[in-house]
Amino acid sequence: MTKAVCVQKSPFTVELDAGDHYWCACGLSKNQPFCDGSHKGSSFTPVKFTLDKKETKYLCGCKATKTPPFCDGTHNKF
Ligand code: FES
Ligand code: FES
Repeated sequence: MTKAVCVQKSPFTVELDAGDHYWCACGLSKNQPFCDGSHKGSSFTPVKFTLDKKETKYLCGCKATKTPPFCDGTHNKF
């Protein structure tokens, strides 16, 4: 597996608590948009990001963003 699986052609809007979060980069997680360990055995690893406070974020669902873990509009090119 060398290409991430597109989960959806739009971002996940999620309200997140302060602290560490792990975005699924491979697209195989059953707990989108977060890593659940399903990437094991592939070349993918989750993208860790940390929030200082509770915030709403737009996490990439197509897995093709150039600014992971955040949606950058790339999904509009599909
Ligand atoms: Fe996709 Fe971990 S399950 S990066
Ligand atoms: Fe992937 Fe927007 S959902 S770039």
